[in-house]
Amino acid sequence: MICLTLSGPTILDNLKALADNKDYVDICELRLDLLSSSEVPKAADFPSMVDIPVILTLRRVSDGGKCTLQEKARRSLLIETMKNGGFSYVDIEDDVKKSDVEEAAHSLGMKVIRSYHDFEGVPADIFSRVHSLASRGDVAKIAVTPHSTADIMTLFRINEELKDVPKIIIGMGEWGVATRILYKKMGSILTFGSNGKAVAPGMVSARELKLLYRADQLNDNTGIYGIVGNPVMHSLSPQIHNPGFHKIHYNAVYVPFLSESIRSFLTLAEMLRMRGFSVTVPFKVDVVKYLGNITREVKQIGSCNTVVRVPNMWKGTNTDYYGFIHPIEKEIDDGRIKSALVIGAGGAAKAIVWALKMRNVKVMIVNRTKSKADELARLYGVGSDSLDNISRYEGKVDLVVQATNMGLHPYEDVNPAENFHFSGKEIAYDIVYQPKYTKFLLAAEEAGCTLKFGWDMLMEQGKLQFESFTGYHYPKDVEIWK
Ligand code: ATR
Repeated sequence: MICLTLSGPTILDNLKALADNKDYVDICELRLDLLSSSEVPKAADFPSMVDIPVILTLRRVSDGGKCTLQEKARRSLLIETMKNGGFSYVDIEDDVKKSDVEEAAHSLGMKVIRSYHDFEGVPADIFSRVHSLASRGDVAKIAVTPHSTADIMTLFRINEELKDVPKIIIGMGEWGVATRILYKKMGSILTFGSNGKAVAPGMVSARELKLLYRADQLNDNTGIYGIVGNPVMHSLSPQIHNPGFHKIHYNAVYVPFLSESIRSFLTLAEMLRMRGFSVTVPFKVDVVKYLGNITREVKQIGSCNTVVRVPNMWKGTNTDYYGFIHPIEKEIDDGRIKSALVIGAGGAAKAIVWALKMRNVKVMIVNRTKSKADELARLYGVGSDSLDNISRYEGKVDLVVQATNMGLHPYEDVNPAENFHFSGKEIAYDIVYQPKYTKFLLAAEEAGCTLKFGWDMLMEQGKLQFESFTGYHYPKDVEIWK
């Protein structure tokens, strides 16, 4: 079940939120503590206004809620609100000793969720906690805050240890995103989704859970794929792969995983029996040493963005270089691109210089830190210079590639090639994909250049990655999920 948390100040706000999300959710949680005081008495009739089960929750400040009532008054308000019947569950915290709310709930045919919250971390005694919560309620709920891959593994292990316990396990914050999406793998009866996009870190919208991740459709046979990085939540790869899987009826899900190291992530990947994953900053180089099988590009570029499971090992490929070349393939083939100026000498530039070199394009690298340009140039036997001297190459190259992260949020206003005047004959290519038109590309367009977009590079590397993952071509006419 996907549960919508209703956090509006009025009953009407909450009804509207529910109407907006009616196609995505199976159950909702009414947060009595977030209703304005004049609205609280109306809550008793809320279940009769909606056609899905409702969880009633009155969260204390100490558990992340807004209720400041004395404990006795808080329990009385819960009982008062439940009295008309209609609620399906009531949430009572771990440490509530008095059984009056439970008795009232059971007499009304409701179930009791016993909950425990930890906003700091994951308690060491989490297994026994789940056990004791389950022994005192109908459903055990644990909402904790993981800070490492080991914490995430602990949460996934709860189901191995306590399979038959009805439970809700939630990892809060960015580290917990995978636990919200893969809730069925965790043995949770439900996951909480938010209303719309503007949400706290780690909270996924109900719409995304339902339509992008199809979280409620996952089963034992669902293949798990994902992307590992740090940061990772901004990645568009879930929006590419999940709709692709769906279109070809491939039973798989693609999930973002924040991680502190590739080594610990691989332990989690083994545990989840992942079939493949994408690798992004800062792990593209580090991952290579853990791979049992790598392709020639990975060996020569020294970085890997695509890992798939093969018997007994992980195999690494690099689709970044292909993604880069594909949009300019035709111009290289017909001789329009014979020489290139590459701005930047970081990880992305490395794959680009290698790809151009493989296609016999003459390359000059310019970089803010000249020593890094020199180092990369030596590796591939190309030219190098300082970014300060960029104007020397005006009118002398067929292709200008912007291969730094300047132009990308929050650097939208920066154009590292500010001092370069396009003649208008060049092809200008920016690897930054958001925004589509960077300052670099706008300057090139003004001069009359042909433009190549980072967006196309992103899509091409993603499509090839999809083929590595599934063995199928990326389907045609798939809309990138928005
Ligand atoms: P990536 O993997 O995206 O290539 P990286 O390896 O950190 O990231 O490389 C970042 C590139 O952007 C480098 O070439 C960097 O130049 P330095 O080697 O001088 O650091 C370049 N870069 C970052 N900030 C820049 C700026 N303000 N102006 C010009 N180049 C910049």
